[in-house]
Amino acid sequence: MVLVGAKATQSCKLAVSEVGSARITTLEGLIEEGELHPVQQAFIEEQAAQCGYCLNGMIISTAALLWKTPHPSELQIREALDGNLCRCGSHLRILRAVRRAESLLIGEEDNGYSNTRLKFMERPTNRASGIGEARGGLGRGIGPIG
Ligand code: FES
Repeated sequence: MVLVGAKATQSCKLAVSEVGSARITTLEGLIEEGELHPVQQAFIEEQAAQCGYCLNGMIISTAALLWKTPHPSELQIREALDGNLCRCGSHLRILRAVRRAESLLIGEEDNGYSNTRLKFMERPTNRASGIGEARGGLGRGIGPIG
């Protein structure tokens, strides 16, 4: 996953001819002057990774989301990250990392990162369908929202 301009894009499906003059930003490219991007920092602080395989896509997708939508709803977060498969089941930590990144980006310690917000993220998932968990996605199917 890379940013093409400000859009998260699957690089494996992207032909060079489609890029044109758009700016491409990789995960490493988010680092500026040796400083981690706030999204990268948030993922570290929340220990969102288990194996780390999915993190490139999760971090790039989060950066694109927060650039476009600084205060996303839970649904917007889940939709933005859906398609990035986390086989380790780190979904709750990843969702918390997105909220922490939101806070870091706006420079307010408590904005969007209160216990109230964390509560709904930690609600048990809907085990009746199991579809969201089986495919490892963060989309609507993983559990109740709201
Ligand atoms: S942390 Fe292992 S796949 Fe997400």
